Amino acid sequence: MRERLELLRSEGLASIAEAEAEVGLKAIEVELLGRKGAITGLLKTLGTLPAEERPGIGQFANQVKLELSGALVEKRQILASSALQAELAADGFDSSLPGPVGPRGGIHPINAVTRELEDLFLSMGFQVVDGPEVELEENNFDALNIPADHPARESHDTIWVTPEEQRSGDGSGVVLRTHTSPVQIRALRKYGAPLRVVAPGRVFRQETLDATHEHTFHQMEGLVVDKGVGVAHMLHAMNTLIEGVMGRKLETRLRPGFFPFVEPGFELDARCPFCKNGCKVCKGSGWIELMPGGLVHPNVLRACDLDPEEYSGYAFGLGLSRIVMLRYGIADIRWFMSGSLSFLGQFPA
Ligand code: PHE
Repeated sequence: MRERLELLRSEGLASIAEAEAEVGLKAIEVELLGRKGAITGLLKTLGTLPAEERPGIGQFANQVKLELSGALVEKRQILASSALQAELAADGFDSSLPGPVGPRGGIHPINAVTRELEDLFLSMGFQVVDGPEVELEENNFDALNIPADHPARESHDTIWVTPEEQRSGDGSGVVLRTHTSPVQIRALRKYGAPLRVVAPGRVFRQETLDATHEHTFHQMEGLVVDKGVGVAHMLHAMNTLIEGVMGRKLETRLRPGFFPFVEPGFELDARCPFCKNGCKVCKGSGWIELMPGGLVHPNVLRACDLDPEEYSGYAFGLGLSRIVMLRYGIADIRWFMSGSLSFLGQFPA
């Protein structure tokens, strides 16, 4: 049997060396190593040998198989590279032509609108500021006039980092920020007054997810503190913002709204851009709730070492995710964080 194997090996190696194309190699492979190939067939008769010879022959057969399959791999590489060489050498191959173009990335629609709004506010003399997504309870709530026992905390469905049993209610807990308003506190404490800032960013809430609720979404905070700032200034900034995002003026109205860190507080509604009187987006009312805001509460100014007798200000909180949905007619907020390329591919750079 050893001689048969040796013969198969030398004949095999020779025909591999002679093969001129992949098809020939495949035939040799099947013939020698395939399920019905010569070596496999030979190994099936191993049982007929005397027991003491079997291990030696078995080992030798495996070595021959390895050698042959190694030679096949090597020969395949040689054939492939000579095929490439032949193609390169042939007429009509232009190595200066550009290669195939891969898929191109784009800018996420939230980022695209954020950048536009940043430019708009920079042109109005605002600074763009930032704050951490993991925030102190003090900045997210207490300094914003929302103490531990305030019912407004409950409406925030907070995702806590500090476990419940370790929360002392003294502002030292840690949360995922539930809004961008803590950046008001950080900016005022860092820069003092006068101040004009916008702060876009991600916020987090423990929500039951549906087409308009997501645990991670985007807001853009606006804050102006100076001497003699009033509601008219706020309204002008809000209207300019809406015109900037939607590309045209929309009629707006102010309704009273409650937020502990503003007094008075408002909700700004805009005329539904999609209909004259009633559609699915505005639920038939003709108005869309776009942006809460108000005059900075004296307690917030005090918490930032400012004298409310000297300074006043306004703040607003734009629902960025919401307005991007409106602008592009996106029906479901969950697309934004989905990572879906079929969604994102619709917003090429
Ligand atoms: N932070 C508030 C919210 O997320 C919105 C807001 C911001 C209201 C600024 C008034 C002023 O609900």
